[in-house]
Amino acid sequence: MDVAPLIHKLADTHSLSLDEYEALIVNRSEASAKLLRNLAVRERVRIYGRTVYVRGLIEVSNICRNDCLYCGIRRSNPNCERYRLTPEEILSCADEGYTLGFRTFVLQGGEDSYFNDDVLGSVVREIKSRHPDCAVTLSMGERSRESYAYLRECGADRYLLRHETADETHYTQLHPREMSYAHRMNCLHELRELGYAVGCGFMVGSPFQTAKHIAQDLKFIETFRPEMCGIGPFIPHKDTPFKDYPAGTLELTCYLLSIIRLIHPSVLLPATTALGTIDPMGREKGIMSGANVVMPNLSPVNVRKKYELYDNKICTGEESAQCRECLNSRMKAIGYEIVTCRGDVIREAV
Ligand code: 5AD
Ligand code: FES
Repeated sequence: MDVAPLIHKLADTHSLSLDEYEALIVNRSEASAKLLRNLAVRERVRIYGRTVYVRGLIEVSNICRNDCLYCGIRRSNPNCERYRLTPEEILSCADEGYTLGFRTFVLQGGEDSYFNDDVLGSVVREIKSRHPDCAVTLSMGERSRESYAYLRECGADRYLLRHETADETHYTQLHPREMSYAHRMNCLHELRELGYAVGCGFMVGSPFQTAKHIAQDLKFIETFRPEMCGIGPFIPHKDTPFKDYPAGTLELTCYLLSIIRLIHPSVLLPATTALGTIDPMGREKGIMSGANVVMPNLSPVNVRKKYELYDNKICTGEESAQCRECLNSRMKAIGYEIVTCRGDVIREAV
């Protein structure tokens, strides 16, 4: 089947039916990938030029009460050496990041009860008071509506919470019984109502994932209209129940990045660390497929190895203390430029 007509329809209308999304995935070829990539890059250049937004990722804790079957920091992994940063350590990462040119900080961590509203709220307030020209993004999992509301009052601007899969049955295959698809989705809607810029997302090639599931993810993205969307390949972690499942591919991840760019031309779309982990040029290839954000690590070098959601994560060695510089030159080499600004979503005139 020739999917070129579907691709043009997507570029023109920013929407396809579930069956059409599925067909676009199942019948993909090198030619269709190239066409999608060209149209996606044209859209991203129209809106964002050749700029790449940068986010300083601070991995605040790998202590987690959850037990997601794919994740290396799940609570039942006894081999994970646990750590949490102190508020002072987080603030000094942000200060250092500011000097390096970061204007967005992403605080990411497991669901660690130490980071209650008091603790997390004061960290957010302090970052915003020291650096009022910066955005603070939280990626701290599922919390109550009251908690999200409070953190928003403290100054948090954005929240990343990947939906992981838009198919309820698939969701239960990836998560322990006590976690629910309905609760996850409810969190996303609450975050939206509270005025956060919201990011959803999913893993490409997660265990049991089918083209139908991915079509549902794309339909969800089309209708929910997130400001940000994080996708990266699933990569097995040796101490999880999914250790023997194959990793997702660079090829399909880049194909989906292009599709998502065409669904929402203005979406903030990172070329993720996981993509850089499965291929030494993964992040570059992500950018060249339509992504416009990179999220280098700002965590203290001595904890980086411990925040291992999947095996062989990049940027965990001594040499990686300056991810910002590394990415600067990597982006330059492919004709893009990292810029020093908050990097909010640009709303289109059309
Ligand atoms: N491979 C790839 N991505 C993973 N994540 C968690 N575990 C893995 C893995 N093994 C992703 C999840 C989560 C985000 C923080 O990292 O999608 O939402
Ligand atoms: Fe971390 Fe290159 S981005 S070392």
